[in-house]
Amino acid sequence: MGRRWGFLIGLLGAVCLLRSGHGGQQPPETAAQRCFCQVSGYLDDCTCDVETIDKFNNYRLFPRLQKLLESDYFRYYKVNLKRPCPFWNDISQCGRRDCAVRPCQSDEVPDGIKSASYKYSEEANNLIEECEQAERLGAVDESLSEETQKAVLQWTKHDDSSDNFCEADDIQSPDAEYVDLLLNPERYTGYKGPDAWKIWNVIYEENCFKPQTIKRPLNPLASSQGKSEENTFYSWLEGLCVEKRAFYRLISGLHASINVHLSARYLLQDTWLEKIWGHNITEFQQRFDGILTEGEGPRRLKNLYFLYLIELRALSKVVPFFERPDFQLFTGNKVQDEENKMLLLEILHEIKSFPLHFDENSFFAGDKKEANKLKEEFRLHFRNISRIMDCVGCFKCRLWGKLQTQGLGTALKILFSEKLIANMPESGPSYEFHLTRQEIVSLFNAFGRISTSVKELENFRNLLQNIH
Ligand SMILES: *[C@@H]1O[C@H](CO)[C@@H](O)[C@H](O)[C@H]1NC(C)=O
Ligand SMILES: *[C@@H]1O[C@H](CO)[C@@H](O)[C@H](O)[C@H]1NC(C)=O
Repeated sequence: MGRRWGFLIGLLGAVCLLRSGHGGQQPPETAAQRCFCQVSGYLDDCTCDVETIDKFNNYRLFPRLQKLLESDYFRYYKVNLKRPCPFWNDISQCGRRDCAVRPCQSDEVPDGIKSASYKYSEEANNLIEECEQAERLGAVDESLSEETQKAVLQWTKHDDSSDNFCEADDIQSPDAEYVDLLLNPERYTGYKGPDAWKIWNVIYEENCFKPQTIKRPLNPLASSQGKSEENTFYSWLEGLCVEKRAFYRLISGLHASINVHLSARYLLQDTWLEKIWGHNITEFQQRFDGILTEGEGPRRLKNLYFLYLIELRALSKVVPFFERPDFQLFTGNKVQDEENKMLLLEILHEIKSFPLHFDENSFFAGDKKEANKLKEEFRLHFRNISRIMDCVGCFKCRLWGKLQTQGLGTALKILFSEKLIANMPESGPSYEFHLTRQEIVSLFNAFGRISTSVKELENFRNLLQNIH
């Protein structure tokens, strides 16, 4: 099944590329086609097409999901942003709270360095400016109203971290704090260059089941080394079992989604009077245009849809957990909590009605022993990725990185627990399968991010249509 679709897409892609290659007779491709031409029709490894997903997401799901995520239960996420990076300790000074604040506070910087009259100090001066910029953009707003703080204290914490896919983010630690996600939107922070590159590199290279024989860097940010490596790479990917291939595609999809956000909420104007955030088409094209990225861009976008579908599937599988009468979205406000639960169930039923998920038998459904082994491998790789998030230098990126990996980890936990969920008692405590508040908040917010990305793709498609 998967192979057949894969082949069809390959064919479509080839037709697309051929057309763009011989632009002489054909009208040249528009900017929109160069990003989206190959991103249509059926997706590999599943029986669904992009157009159906777009319509379903943009008009039916997205608006309701946004509303849900604005509720108190979902907007406050507890996170420890102060955990040290376990893998290396040369994180950029800039953006790291305790380090960044010091070099960036101008009254502490010696006047000699501030003055631009010496060459070395000019450099230092630029560094300070960069730091200030990153510090300002990347800072996390931790303000919570007193009322919220009190409510938060009452929220029940019933934890059962038996099979967590992510490093249980020691939310009991005194360093863990509640963050208001609405006050800290994911957007362009100026965090890029070697540090951001290194994070993605470690994630792709060391955690995506990559064997020694593959030399090509998996990180799409690294320049590729010619076409033969390219072919080895994609045939290796083809040869993987469907779940391991999925792992790579999920990471790539997450990466793509984050980049869609940064391009859609780019800092376009930054003066002391005002800041303007908005779509930066150039930035989007640099990451996703088929020609500028040598064919990688459209693949990234397809992986984004793939990630969307995986999370969608997890949500459709976990419905029985949320349907139980004992389950509440507890914040202490009874009326609101009940309304939110109704909205949540409405969204979940909408998701369940979406017809095009995956071939039931193809994913995470091998024989029991094989499945358990795979689950354990996935779990270890995933925990690792969530720990790598502690190495992200920019706090706002770290916040959203942690939230999204935890959300995806929760989705995987659900997919690997299908049978447990199906056998859950209709009422009373469920010992076999449980989700903590933390997992629920991250699951829905992570899905909200991907849903927003899919919606943003429509915006970019329209913007690009107007430029050619
Ligand atoms: C858009 O992004 C590009 C980099 O991709 C940058 O050079 C350009 O200045 C940005 N445009 C605006 C208006 O900020
Ligand atoms: C976890 O990540 C570290 C650092 O990149 C790497 O050395 C290690 O092999 C990884 N372990 C697993 C299980 O992926």
